[in-house]
Amino acid sequence: MNASSTIAGTMNPLQIITTGGALGAEIRGLDLRRGLDADTVRTLRAAFLEHCVLYYRDQQISQQDLVRFTRHFGKPVAHVRPQPDRPIEEIFVISNVTEDGKPIGALGSEEIPFHSDLSYLPEPGTISLLYALEIPEVGGETMWASGYAAYEALDPTMKDRIDGLNAVHRHPIDALNTPEPTMHPVVRTHPETGRKVIYVSPHLTHHITDMEREDGRALLDELIAHATAERFVWKHRWQVGDLVMWDNRCTMHRRTPFDDRQRRVMWRTQVFGAGTR
Ligand code: OGA
Ligand code: MN
Repeated sequence: MNASSTIAGTMNPLQIITTGGALGAEIRGLDLRRGLDADTVRTLRAAFLEHCVLYYRDQQISQQDLVRFTRHFGKPVAHVRPQPDRPIEEIFVISNVTEDGKPIGALGSEEIPFHSDLSYLPEPGTISLLYALEIPEVGGETMWASGYAAYEALDPTMKDRIDGLNAVHRHPIDALNTPEPTMHPVVRTHPETGRKVIYVSPHLTHHITDMEREDGRALLDELIAHATAERFVWKHRWQVGDLVMWDNRCTMHRRTPFDDRQRRVMWRTQVFGAGTR
């Protein structure tokens, strides 16, 4: 469906179509260039808390539209990483493209292992949104894993074993880290749904505290292997015009690599704190 074909004054009924996977739903019937009424926002917030990842296809939005839409879910803030020459400071560009020898965005074309955004900070990002302007023919797909489904599938012995454990999170680029080590519980409770999630990732969780290094490593590896098992993961194949929003409090995500000669350009916004109440 082309959103621009919406006739002024007639509302498409909003549709929520679940992916059939461990998480995620597509929202149909919205043109995100337009303002949303309070009922629609309520519906989207509830769907977001239920499905953890929502995507909208065939959008043709501006940077202002993306920031305005993001505000329905919290306060968009400038990304913690600097990016020069941004006309709208809440927009962070994700891209492998270089212009005049300089990258126009972050994250390149390499694989990005599973992570929850900014978990190396004491207050990690809660909600992230990504809008696709250009995508490669092959690769550059993003997949999300449900921390709820992974936690709920653990046997009671493992739940007992990891309850109360903490882990240090650290970015591989040391300059991005805080001076004091950042710690988070291995099992987190989502502040809005009250549901428990496994909150460790191969990219950003460095070690479990108060355990012998070897035992801690083995436990972390086991938890990561479990939490990233295919049955908890849903993969998104991007199309130009897709907007995907995800809840970092109950998911982690990973991006597959792609040919660096192909262009991938996305705009991103970031919310901290709970905004979906
Ligand atoms: C991010 C991220 C994945 C992607 O923006 O936080 O992990 O598919 N992006 O570009
Ligand atoms: Mn990310």
